Amino acid sequence: MTRSLLLFALVAALGCASVSHAADATTNWKAQCAKCHASDGSGKTSMGARLAIKDYTVAASLADMTDAQLTEAIASGVKVEGKSVMPAYAAKLTAEEIAELVAHIRAMAKS
Ligand code: HEC
Repeated sequence: MTRSLLLFALVAALGCASVSHAADATTNWKAQCAKCHASDGSGKTSMGARLAIKDYTVAASLADMTDAQLTEAIASGVKVEGKSVMPAYAAKLTAEEIAELVAHIRAMAKS
């Protein structure tokens, strides 16, 4: 009994580990970013309206930002007038996941 419980705990722990391990950009976007930026990247959420979030479906929105700047925003978060408006994700996502999110954001532009 004890042994099977232990085994169950181990399997559950391993299961969790694989779930939190490097998710693809679409999954990360939906889970971590869409509540503010919207699932299509338009920023049309109540949070987006309040925080003046850009519309990523329009290429011009990010035309003046380099991939390095987008990476930095995701890793370190964004502050406006000293107030944090977007959390930092460096501790939550791997560098690879962040790079994939940058590509995901660029791919959202329709015009
Ligand atoms: C709490 C709301 C919130 C969440 C959650 C959030 N962001 Fe943001 N994000 C913002 C705000 C506000 C800005 C700055 C306003 C703006 O210009 O869009 C911003 C800016 C950015 C920028 C810099 C480009 C820009 O728009 O100026 C990138 C890139 C970005 N977010 C990506 C992400 C990604 C990727 C995630 C998920 C891992 C995420 N954000 C989660 C609110 C959020």
